[in-house]
Amino acid sequence: MNWELPADFSDRYGPWALIAGGSEGTGEAFARRLAREGINSVLLARRQAPLDALAADIRAEHGVEVRTASVDLGHADAAAMAAELTEDLDVGLVIFNAGATIRFNYFPEWPEEDLLALVNMNCRTTTLFAHRFAPRLIQRGRGGLVLVGSVAGFAGSTHQSVYNASKAYDWVLAEGLWRELGIYGVDAIAMVIGATDTPSHRRMGADLSAHSPMEAADVADEALANLHNGPTYVVGEHNRAASEFILTPHNRGAIVSSMSESSAGIAGDEMLPMSSR
Ligand SMILES: NC(=O)c1ccc[n+]([C@@H]2O[C@H](COP(=O)([O-])OP(=O)(O)OC[C@H]3O[C@@H](n4cnc5c(N)ncnc54)[C@H](OP(=O)(O)O)[C@@H]3O)[C@@H](O)[C@H]2O)c1
Repeated sequence: MNWELPADFSDRYGPWALIAGGSEGTGEAFARRLAREGINSVLLARRQAPLDALAADIRAEHGVEVRTASVDLGHADAAAMAAELTEDLDVGLVIFNAGATIRFNYFPEWPEEDLLALVNMNCRTTTLFAHRFAPRLIQRGRGGLVLVGSVAGFAGSTHQSVYNASKAYDWVLAEGLWRELGIYGVDAIAMVIGATDTPSHRRMGADLSAHSPMEAADVADEALANLHNGPTYVVGEHNRAASEFILTPHNRGAIVSSMSESSAGIAGDEMLPMSSR
């Protein structure tokens, strides 16, 4: 589908966007699509080289400004650093994109530092980003705050239990902010995505073949065209259909088992049966 952006898009969300996790995958796709609208961006990620390569490419292709900085979003000061890096800019759109899990494992097998890195990035830093940038967006009286979520955040599952829980946190946080920032004309939104073909998922060895993975560019197009459709927007028709099933309030055991089968498949693992009691 060809998603059109609203006519007032750049006025509402420009002139600068901040993308946390902006060097590849959906983050890169957001930056490229925004640049086509003439919106400048500040891109954050850990590895500087991919950031610089993307920035040079976007500048050459679209003539917009791009700033980059190497920031670990799991670091306690990440939000403060992002605020400082952008203090001279009129940021109209903040997209917290990074968040993928780093491994698929049963819970006891996760090293404690990996658990904490995920919780720090997906819960602590998202909260502090929202807290730093909400006042700036409110002062402008327009703009957007996007927490990129996952259909995995709609139910618990094996193999990625902490990832799902952290995405549930972001989902509920974004919904509350949608109502609160909406008072001031700012669009906060939980932008929930499903299986998407990204370099990070390829590096993790995630097998998404059973989940009709979307292309990152299609995800970005649809997401940006729906920033005003909060509190929660699920990207992709097939993901919206799956979410209706997952969000059924009864029979959570069956839903968690089904989500766990999916997670085991993505991890290339076999789902073990529950012991009979
Ligand atoms: N891909 C999927 O199938 C899928 C499905 C559902 C939801 N999602 C959600 O979509 C978003 C994007 O996912 P993705 O697959 O593109 O992978 P991702 O690893 O979450 O995001 C990739 C970007 O984030 C940066 N990043 C990752 N960890 C970081 C950290 N600790 N500090 C700073 N930057 C960091 C990466 O660069 P560096 O590695 O250089 O830091 C890269 O630019 C995530 O929120 C994910 O949860 C993805």
